[in-house]
Amino acid sequence: MKTILYYFSGTGNTLMLANLLAKQLGDTEIINIVSCNNSTTIPEADAVGILFPVYAFGLPKIMHKFVENNLQIADNTYVFSLTNYASAGGPSASLQLKKILAAKGNKLNAGFGVPMPSNYIPFGGAESQEKQNRRFLASAETIKSIAETIKERPEKYMYKKICIFCALTPLFYKIFMKKCQKDVKKFYVNDDCENCGICSKVCPTQNITIVEERPTWGENCEQCMACLQWCPVSAIQRKGVPQSRLHYHNPGIDVHDLIQDMKRE
Ligand SMILES: Cc1cc2nc3c(=O)[nH]c(=O)nc-3n(C[C@H](O)[C@H](O)[C@H](O)COP(=O)(O)O)c2cc1C
Ligand code: SF4
Ligand code: SF4
Repeated sequence: MKTILYYFSGTGNTLMLANLLAKQLGDTEIINIVSCNNSTTIPEADAVGILFPVYAFGLPKIMHKFVENNLQIADNTYVFSLTNYASAGGPSASLQLKKILAAKGNKLNAGFGVPMPSNYIPFGGAESQEKQNRRFLASAETIKSIAETIKERPEKYMYKKICIFCALTPLFYKIFMKKCQKDVKKFYVNDDCENCGICSKVCPTQNITIVEERPTWGENCEQCMACLQWCPVSAIQRKGVPQSRLHYHNPGIDVHDLIQDMKRE
């Protein structure tokens, strides 16, 4: 009973969950959607998991496009989502995914969600290590029970049929995603930069080029925060965010593994 987990991750939380879930399920392949290179992807598996961080109560643009345009799932496949988020949005993001799949004739059989530390620095810096550890312990337990559920292949959703809040989120999502494109102009680099190139390599949209030993940003940005959060010397900052705000990336993930998973080198 093979499972394929398709994931997108900016700062490693989703990859951590994918690793945990794969271990619990057994016979599971983990694929970073960036490595699919915008080409048609036909999973050869009994179950397909779609794993992503919630962005503005919905899907990251890159995952939205992948599911809509590239993923071709056979009819009898069991499909589930695993969202993760700092505080809210799992149900509405699952519902959004359900609709994208339905428009292609596919069914989302189940939707799950796990709270994880926030990486959205405009809303606040990293939580204390203690708080993060509590979240990681809780998420590992939640993943165990999600894996047990998935093995039984139930129809199980984390959203209700009528959800007033879910009805409002598409508008918020639309406004936020439009703003994202402009927000890329807020990134800047300070003199601490050591020209290691990690920001450029970890960017899922190849939006960063190194010019005269410093990163420069193009316009194709997901606002995933990977460049800012993985910089080993916190040289990447965002206008409007105090430099004292602590940066965050998942401490259990090696940035080189994430880059390797994108298989672009
Ligand atoms: C652009 C953006 C939008 C986000 N929107 C939400 C949100 O609507 N609700 C929420 O609880 N967390 C939100 N977050 C937080 C992330 O979903 C959360 O930190 C997630 O664990 C990050 O996963 P990753 O490390 O795999 O990128 C947002 C983060 C980013 C970068
Ligand atoms: S990751 Fe940081 S140190 Fe490395 S090139 Fe980018 S800005 Fe400079
Ligand atoms: S430029 Fe930074 S925030 Fe934008 S997609 Fe690339 S890594 Fe993510």
